[in-house]
Amino acid sequence: MDVYEAIKMRRSIRKYRGDIVPENVLKRVLNAARLAPTTENFQPWRIVVVTDEDIKRKLVSACNNQKFIAEAPIVLVACGLPDEAYPMLGGYMNSYPVDVAIAMTHLTLAATAEGLGTCWIGSFKEEKVAEAIGAPPEARVVALTPLGYPAEEGEKTERKNLDELISYDKY
Ligand SMILES: Cc1cc2nc3c(=O)[nH]c(=O)nc-3n(C[C@H](O)[C@H](O)[C@H](O)COP(=O)(O)O)c2cc1C
Repeated sequence: MDVYEAIKMRRSIRKYRGDIVPENVLKRVLNAARLAPTTENFQPWRIVVVTDEDIKRKLVSACNNQKFIAEAPIVLVACGLPDEAYPMLGGYMNSYPVDVAIAMTHLTLAATAEGLGTCWIGSFKEEKVAEAIGAPPEARVVALTPLGYPAEEGEKTERKNLDELISYDKY
């Protein structure tokens, strides 16, 4: 599957089959995240691969009870490390959320190419996620995603037209 196809095919998946994700497939998907660009190549992130059912249950609760998360055999928790990131992107912001988001985008597209489903989870309580995975205080939780074989096609969502999103030469 080429990258355009993966971009078009990816959907947020909120129903999963329980089937195990083979180790080599998981490794390829994680490696896609590893290869993502980061500010000054600092790579200020860590992804925790959760398969333990008890921790998955705690993550469901930490994600405001989004139960479908635990249907997948794997839940990924993506954390950023502000102290290892570029502090003043554009002169005003720490790069870690951007760095993590790019890595997760690589990962979700690779997952699509492998026939796997993902769903970016941004509705969570950081403190509860951090406690569930034993994250140290310097790690900030940016996103989670279930990872597994889809049991649905996913909702077809619309996007704005290009002319609402893109302008040329001037804003
Ligand atoms: C930052 C962010 C946070 C999101 N949080 C959630 C979430 O907590 N739960 C959920 O089911 N979907 C969540 N989504 C998925 C969006 O609802 C979804 O991407 C959007 O509706 C477009 O649908 P699509 O991903 O199928 O193209 C989130 C997406 C993003 C980018």
